[in-house]
Amino acid sequence: MRVLITGAAGMLGRRAAEEYASRGAETYPLTRKELDVTDHSAIEKAFADIRPHLVVNCAAYTNVDGAETEKEAALAVNGLAPRLLALACRRHDAALVHVSTDYVFNGRSPRPYLISDPPDPVNVYGASKLMGEQGVREAGCRYYIVRTSWLFGPDGKNFADTILKLAGERDTLKVVDDQRGSPTYTPDLARGIAGLAGTGIYGTYHFTNSGVTTWCGFAKKILRAAGLKTKVEPCTTAEFPRPARRPANSALDPFPINRVLGCAPPSWEAAVEHYIKNHYQAQTED
Ligand SMILES: NC(=O)c1ccc[n+]([C@@H]2O[C@H](COP(=O)([O-])OP(=O)(O)OC[C@H]3O[C@@H](n4cnc5c(N)ncnc54)[C@H](OP(=O)(O)O)[C@@H]3O)[C@@H](O)[C@H]2O)c1
Repeated sequence: MRVLITGAAGMLGRRAAEEYASRGAETYPLTRKELDVTDHSAIEKAFADIRPHLVVNCAAYTNVDGAETEKEAALAVNGLAPRLLALACRRHDAALVHVSTDYVFNGRSPRPYLISDPPDPVNVYGASKLMGEQGVREAGCRYYIVRTSWLFGPDGKNFADTILKLAGERDTLKVVDDQRGSPTYTPDLARGIAGLAGTGIYGTYHFTNSGVTTWCGFAKKILRAAGLKTKVEPCTTAEFPRPARRPANSALDPFPINRVLGCAPPSWEAAVEHYIKNHYQAQTED
């Protein structure tokens, strides 16, 4: 099977490429330099050269605050490009995995969001990702839309690394405790995507590590796993104004991916421990 991976230098793109290579797939990880997903003719050329059976779209504009001022850039990568990829998939009879986000929801639900809940993004990033989902659905290709949240893992700018860095600089960290969601470890997500894309059960899915926490709970677990004594003080979103609004609750209900895969992903706590042991502690021992 030939698998084309876009955004292959990104945090998820690297893990997806690794996952597919470990499964023996003919893997074509293309970085932004190798394939700009907003370039219609570059997509056509890549499809003609590679003739992929499956495309995993990990390319995205992921700067949530930056999107508020760089609206057009965010819309081009997150809103238009998935449609271009999906249309190319239809023309070349390839299936598409498109990665989306919990930020398509407004966060006002008292429970985790179901795949059937109506999206209502509260920031430009979320709106751009929703536009991308719509483009994929309308293009008429075979697709899996996989919404995920709060990514962390090796080779990326992520919350876990930020907390570990700040812990080296301060005795106490103030961390937001009124936004709820599920941290998701990129190797677990890459495995989930590869498992799902082998089923032929197309549609929209929610995939995160199991369990729900706040950024504050996430920070405490990261520090505990790393054996650091830095104090964490809970604070409110209002105390930390950011350019983009964030949904207060972006927990995603895992039905039906847990049924389709036949198992639940590891807990987010186990994922944090794995990351710290295999990447952070391994690095600091060098
Ligand atoms: N990170 C999170 O917490 C989070 C949460 C929910 C959902 N997601 C979704 O998960 C997916 C993967 O996110 P990630 O954290 O792995 O993102 P990431 O580390 O920012 O990687 C995205 C990659 O896409 C590339 N890219 C940007 N514009 C491109 C273009 N025009 N053509 C080709 N490639 C382009 C980027 O290249 P440059 O670095 O050169 O710009 C980068 O390598 C995205 O769809 C994101 O929306 C992420």
